[in-house]
Amino acid sequence: MKSLALIACLAGALALPHPHPPQPSPDLVPLKHFPLAWQKYPGNPIISPDPSHTWEDAYTYNPSAWVQNDEVYMIYRAQDSQKVSSFGLATSKDGYHFNRLPDPIFTPQGSVESHGVEDPRVVLVNGTYYMTYTAYNGTVAQLCLATSTDIHNWQRYGPMFPGFNVRSTDGSGTEWSKSGAILPWKQPNGQYLIYFGEVNIWYAYSPDLVHWGTPTLFFSNSGVAGQFDSDLVEAGPPPIQTSQGVLFVFNGAQIGTNYKNYSVGELLVDANDNTRILQRTIQAVMTPTTPEEAGANVQTPNVTFAEGLVYLKNKALLYYGQGDQTIGVATGVLN
Ligand SMILES: *[C@@H]1O[C@H](CO)[C@@H](O)[C@H](O)[C@H]1NC(C)=O
Ligand SMILES: *[C@@H]1O[C@H](CO)[C@@H](O)[C@H](O)[C@H]1NC(C)=O
Ligand SMILES: *[C@@H]1O[C@H](CO)[C@@H](O)[C@H](O)[C@H]1NC(C)=O
Ligand SMILES: *[C@@H]1O[C@H](CO)[C@@H](O)[C@H](O)[C@H]1NC(C)=O
Repeated sequence: MKSLALIACLAGALALPHPHPPQPSPDLVPLKHFPLAWQKYPGNPIISPDPSHTWEDAYTYNPSAWVQNDEVYMIYRAQDSQKVSSFGLATSKDGYHFNRLPDPIFTPQGSVESHGVEDPRVVLVNGTYYMTYTAYNGTVAQLCLATSTDIHNWQRYGPMFPGFNVRSTDGSGTEWSKSGAILPWKQPNGQYLIYFGEVNIWYAYSPDLVHWGTPTLFFSNSGVAGQFDSDLVEAGPPPIQTSQGVLFVFNGAQIGTNYKNYSVGELLVDANDNTRILQRTIQAVMTPTTPEEAGANVQTPNVTFAEGLVYLKNKALLYYGQGDQTIGVATGVLN
């Protein structure tokens, strides 16, 4: 009963518009060493499928996260038994224990999203939530944008890079785009920046976070046999600012016949030029090890996929999908 009351109370609070929308936190994460190491939370998973809600009764994973009013807000991907994805909302005061809403806050609409909406990433700028997500129509994946001022009512803008194929190094070929990590601060040229893509990661500029320019290649899979990112790199969470530069956590994969292994890597980017890479990890900073991540009984074994990164009360917290089935968190080792 107690948890039901909490959920009802949470739902009531979230339905109200915020009179004074908070700004993104300007806190710089005190980064002593690069890469930042991570300790998996022993209480993982922090979110699992809920059999009492059909929209999230099969899988819950790939979470976006941000901090608002000293709480972590999370929008996560959930799948029903038909594997159609929607997004749920959860909040937490300590970053480890979450209260969830009983209903999804975003569900697939129209032909572009006919096979679901996937992998949300949210940034909060000037009181508006900007959410990138992948729309899948059964053939192509398209990175799309939606905005909201209350997390419940969303305006859709459709594909952000129509016709673009992130998987070729010149954008040509069959359309395919996904994984958009917006930097919630302005660049020296007065525009906003996004890192996005898989296999190749691109960047593009926008004057208003809605209209996006022509992408430029940022970096690609390493191609080095045996390295965690030999076959694929994919954008991770929206980056955060640290004392040494911008920390961009990305996902890397080794992919073979009947074999996939998604681990997590990091990029340190020049604070004054967010298109200039200072350092890139050669070794993964987090790999699948636990039964929820690497066991045979999960939707996709051998996957740790980072999508949420926050700085809450002097703690760096990384949220990630475990085996495309549950959600885990890891704490950054800042000392
Ligand atoms: C999916 O979208 C692409 C690009 O718009 C289109 O070419 C394709 O026919 C669509 N597929 C389905 C099954 O609707
Ligand atoms: C947010 O507010 C700042 C300060 O007024 C402004 O410069 C910026 O363009 C705004 N960004 C968006 C996306 O509205
Ligand atoms: C996955 O890749 C990482 C990084 O290369 C490696 O440490 C780990 O052993 C691999 N896991 C499996 C199950 O092969
Ligand atoms: C997961 O990793 C193990 C150990 O390397 C491997 O035997 C297995 O085939 C992998 N599973 C998948 C689905 O890639």
